[in-house]
Amino acid sequence: MGCRVVLLGLPGAGKGTQAERLAKALGVPHVASGDLFREHLNKNTELGQRARAYIDRGDLVPDEITIGMVAERLARPDCADGFVLDGFPRTVAQAEALERVLDRMGTRLNIVPLIQVSEEVALARLSGRWTCRKCGAVYHTLFNPPKQPGVCDVCGGELYQRSDETPEAHRRRLEVYREQTAPLVDYYRRAGLLVEINGEQSIEDVQADLWAAVRAACGVG
Ligand code: AP5
Ligand code: MG
Repeated sequence: MGCRVVLLGLPGAGKGTQAERLAKALGVPHVASGDLFREHLNKNTELGQRARAYIDRGDLVPDEITIGMVAERLARPDCADGFVLDGFPRTVAQAEALERVLDRMGTRLNIVPLIQVSEEVALARLSGRWTCRKCGAVYHTLFNPPKQPGVCDVCGGELYQRSDETPEAHRRRLEVYREQTAPLVDYYRRAGLLVEINGEQSIEDVQADLWAAVRAACGVG
């Protein structure tokens, strides 16, 4: 059975923050395409080198690079009983590719929560974000500060600001969302999978609403 979730929402909506907690509660992997890309960037792999310029500008990495990378991750055994996908799909072509991957696994998505925030809130969240270099945990200087500045609460790793944390890249990412990702809202609404979650609440309140929706859809907890 298992529980298969895709989180939708603007850059900065809190997908990564919530996906991490939700995956832990469900006991399934958190699969984030942005994190997979950042691993490739850190290791300076060939894929990372091809993706870097797109990421730093705030553009989408082309589908032919992205789809294979995520499909390979979902094919690993730890995803057999479910996953929380964050940042993928981001285009209709990616959503169709995901459906084909799940068809081959003989399964389908259970729910697609949309974490809703305004562009103003998304920008405010993006501009104060710090990320752990070691485990990827995210913090915010105002809304979710680490106990000790510059140090990850979870693993003690060093906190850094992502290379796409520039005002230009933030604006571009919001624009790209409007143009290429927003159509997925209707796509998943038509499929009967979309559930809207108010993202303009505290991290804990968003988490509680999300958990209630996922529990109902997956019959867990
Ligand atoms: P990706 O890493 O996916 O970035 P994103 O979608 O732009 O989303 P973010 O990670 O910026 O935001 P989030 O929603 O996860 O918010 P977070 O939890 O961090 O993608 C990066 C790039 O990779 C893309 O631009 C593209 O180039 C490429 N890429 C990735 N996937 C791709 C794909 N499928 N196809 C093509 N290219 C792809 O929260 C933000 C901040 O807010 C944090 O500081 C957090 O502490 C704080 N916060 C969270 N929740 C709350 C709350 N409730 N109240 C107050 N503060 C909060
Ligand atoms: Mg994220």
